[in-house]
Amino acid sequence: MHDRDDREMGAVGSRLVRVDADAKVTGRALYVDDLTFPGMLEAALVLPGCAHARLLKVDASDALAMAGVHAVVTADDVPGENQVGVVDRDQPLLPSERIRYSGDAVAVVVAETRAIAREAAAAVRAETEEIPAVFDAVRAMEPGAPKVHDDGNVFLEYRVRKGNIDEGFEAADIIVERTFRTHHQEHSYLEPLGAIAVPEEHGGVTIYGTMQCPYYVQKAVATVLGLPLAHVRVIQTVTGGGFGGKEDSPSEICACAAVAAWKLRRPVKLIYTREDDFYRSSKRHPMTVTYKLGATRDGTFTAAQIRVVADAGAYSTLTPVVVFRAAAHATGPYEIPNVHTDAYGVYTNRQTTGAFRGFGQPQTIFANESIVDEVAEALGLDPIDVRLKNGLAVGKRTATNQLLTESVGLPETLRQAREASGWDAKRAERGADSDPIKRGIGVGSIYYGVSLGAKGLALDGSGAHMNVYRDGSVRIAIGGTEMGQGLLTVLTQIASDALGAPTESIHVDHVDTSVVPDSGPSVASRTTLMTGNAIIDAAEKLRATMGEVASELLGVPTGEITFRDGRVGAGDRSIAFAELAAECWARNVNTAADGWYAAPLSTFDEDGQGDAYAIYSYATHVAEVEVDTRTGHVRLVRVTAAHDVGKILNPTTLEGQVEGGVLQCAGMALYERMITDGGDILTPDFSTYILPTAMDVPEIETLFIEEPYSRGPFGAKGIGETPAMPGAVAIANAIYHATGLRFLELPITAEAVRLALADGRGR
Ligand code: MOS
Repeated sequence: MHDRDDREMGAVGSRLVRVDADAKVTGRALYVDDLTFPGMLEAALVLPGCAHARLLKVDASDALAMAGVHAVVTADDVPGENQVGVVDRDQPLLPSERIRYSGDAVAVVVAETRAIAREAAAAVRAETEEIPAVFDAVRAMEPGAPKVHDDGNVFLEYRVRKGNIDEGFEAADIIVERTFRTHHQEHSYLEPLGAIAVPEEHGGVTIYGTMQCPYYVQKAVATVLGLPLAHVRVIQTVTGGGFGGKEDSPSEICACAAVAAWKLRRPVKLIYTREDDFYRSSKRHPMTVTYKLGATRDGTFTAAQIRVVADAGAYSTLTPVVVFRAAAHATGPYEIPNVHTDAYGVYTNRQTTGAFRGFGQPQTIFANESIVDEVAEALGLDPIDVRLKNGLAVGKRTATNQLLTESVGLPETLRQAREASGWDAKRAERGADSDPIKRGIGVGSIYYGVSLGAKGLALDGSGAHMNVYRDGSVRIAIGGTEMGQGLLTVLTQIASDALGAPTESIHVDHVDTSVVPDSGPSVASRTTLMTGNAIIDAAEKLRATMGEVASELLGVPTGEITFRDGRVGAGDRSIAFAELAAECWARNVNTAADGWYAAPLSTFDEDGQGDAYAIYSYATHVAEVEVDTRTGHVRLVRVTAAHDVGKILNPTTLEGQVEGGVLQCAGMALYERMITDGGDILTPDFSTYILPTAMDVPEIETLFIEEPYSRGPFGAKGIGETPAMPGAVAIANAIYHATGLRFLELPITAEAVRLALADGRGR
């Protein structure tokens, strides 16, 4: 319905300025902590801090005696089911018998002010009896390890079996095998988790909060309060970053606020301190990945055997989805005829782990893209040549034996990144041996199944409600969330071209679950695709009904009518879109419509074979580093980031996504390490948990490749995750090129580099 020529003229593809920019830079945007309600109280959580313990008693007498304290809410006050597990039902909201990690809260203290609530929370005494704990997922798999849950620690297993692995390794001239380790990564969004629960006069509750998944929150609150979903309304407030960290964790904080508000029949606000957030929000899964890759002398991959152990922490939260994704993609973006992958989700007494940009893939990518470089070097081949030789393309098959039929931009990302980075010359350069600064250049490539795939099909529909007012202005309700990525802006552009109405006349709202049906989570790079398509669906319905009226008015057949640039009609007979809206109103024609988009079927059988995801995004990052061999410091100098996005909807928001992702990759590769001692987090703030800052931003060149996806909005695929995926290993490979040091563990801190050099490793 949108022909190509239209699109070149329209809003899609333009650098429309972010529609939420003004409100954010002037401070008018209202984040959850900016909101207040009549009679509102404030809450704080009681965290005993044990890694693993029996909970004998919660003694709140001192806290309750403090002036200004209204209640200490415990498991006994949960009116419905004391359960917030997202996928598995293994997570009590407020444990009553057993504490499984240091982020478990046993009570919510409610008081007149936040300061009183926090002081009173510190005065609540939890009587506990310590039980043996386990802090390492590999160790937790061993017989005799302390059990975090009674059924055992290994709660999840996915396998991929393709071809014959023994024959594949027999055919290889070279086999490389290594074990890699990655650690927790904290999302470090600027706005910590927060929620307000407001009891409503009709008996239900309204939740306001910072979140990615309002429909998850709705379900969690309905569960703990024992209410029908229709009585729980969730309104997403302006959200200051998510990156996956506001997928599962908001359900917990919103449910805590809801139970407290329900007991007191007053609005209750609960805002985490940064330390609460470190203790209670889900992190990136630490993984131990053993990777064995075989190749023939000419660099053709023959077999890959992979074992992934993912540390889920104390509860499974989103581990089933994350480990599915890790298992399906563990070979990297290559056609390998023989694949044998085992991936496990394992409980430990550590922080829970869930979604973080890349969703389980950056960890396996670190392994597979390091190994690909090792194989290339052993065979005397260029790393990009080896990637091009084995890389996925139309007509090739993935590890799950999925035949790729369209929109495979991987080879182009490799070619363009090679060219733009000056790869060939820089790769050949060798600095003087006497220079203490060593320069290196490295590459990493990835593919990413967009949206939820075979293990999330039930959640994979999204809606939109489009309302055209009689003055031609348009208001759109959506089920996907803006969390800083620019969603409201690109949806405005999509709606503008789909409706032929100017962008200035369109307003897209944050999610209110009472308006749009359950649209699944805003994760997995699915939101622009799913919600964008839902908006196009709604617009098509409106063009049909409004087009009838235009046809009558103008005496032009409906088939000839176009909606373009704010005008409706054909040839020289047209009227303004706003005029048509007024005419529809005058004739009692409905100018509101609901749109819906459901993902196509995907499959993944017991052997991990099937069309696991409907479509994939591809990316290649080339990183250039300088390693100071005197201090071990690694400076990230330049990153060339090439992404196949299907279709560019807005170059500025795309660049923003990529530049942020490049920095998160740098953090994962070089700096970010959450250090723990038993249940204690020794780095619970941004002075000890080291993030890349503005001082560490390298020169970044972004390249966008358009290989349109036939079912994408205007051909677009997702961009949310992919920028945070190939960069870490590209940096690791660049460090190897600079120094000859092959690191098997992230982050590669200055200490790690200096110690390795002191050991005489490297060149
Ligand atoms: Mo993203 S890790 O899918 O929220």
